[in-house]
Amino acid sequence: MIFRQLFEPLSSTYTYLLGCEETGQAILIDPVISAMNRDLAEVKRLGLTLAYTVDTHIHADHITAARGLKQKVGSKIAAPAHDRLPCADVGIEEGKPFQVGGIVLTPLHTPGHTDGHFCYLHNDQVFTGDALLIEGCGRTDFQNGDADALYKSVHEKLFTLPDETLVYPGHDYQHRHVSSIAQEKTLEEFRHIMANLNLPYPKFIDHAVPGNRLCGVCPPDLPDNLANYCRQMIETPQG
Ligand SMILES: [Fe+2]
Repeated sequence: MIFRQLFEPLSSTYTYLLGCEETGQAILIDPVISAMNRDLAEVKRLGLTLAYTVDTHIHADHITAARGLKQKVGSKIAAPAHDRLPCADVGIEEGKPFQVGGIVLTPLHTPGHTDGHFCYLHNDQVFTGDALLIEGCGRTDFQNGDADALYKSVHEKLFTLPDETLVYPGHDYQHRHVSSIAQEKTLEEFRHIMANLNLPYPKFIDHAVPGNRLCGVCPPDLPDNLANYCRQMIETPQG
């Protein structure tokens, strides 16, 4: 299996090229219109023919190259059936594997970023679009986005995949390339633990932080119950 991760810098989008060595067919997941020729050159350089473009969702931050590539090289357009796009040749649905040569994608409906969002599982790789990024998720404030739905998608669909599954996100803005389900789960658990410590508000914080910004000044407005903290300072003779 041939695999390439391609980066479009304007929208920090990752496009994934998967190629079947036996049939010479390739697919591009989330290709970007501005990088169309670069992607096509890579497909050709690898001796492959572009059979399909596959989008994870209707993007808001860039324009898909699906139509442009179809016009240029006759590739077919696969997109989530949920979005009922008249321009799609194949509507992707959960429970229906999407196969091109030896490439088999298992579609996972992962609503939340958009309601029609899909992730694609391919052996030990999962292409997560904007549902799960590295140390984060796509936004949920437009295109029928729904934070509760996204939480469910991430926890029930993605975090139930084997820990060693490699997470290939739709974007990364910090030059990270790949993560894993275990790594993202650990971070999620850590965040959850930290958010639920239920510790009381530190009683000294409002006085300590400004005092420490001055390298240890006792504030004049200490309440009576904290006054002991600064007694030594007050009692130490100056000079
Ligand atoms: Fe998106």
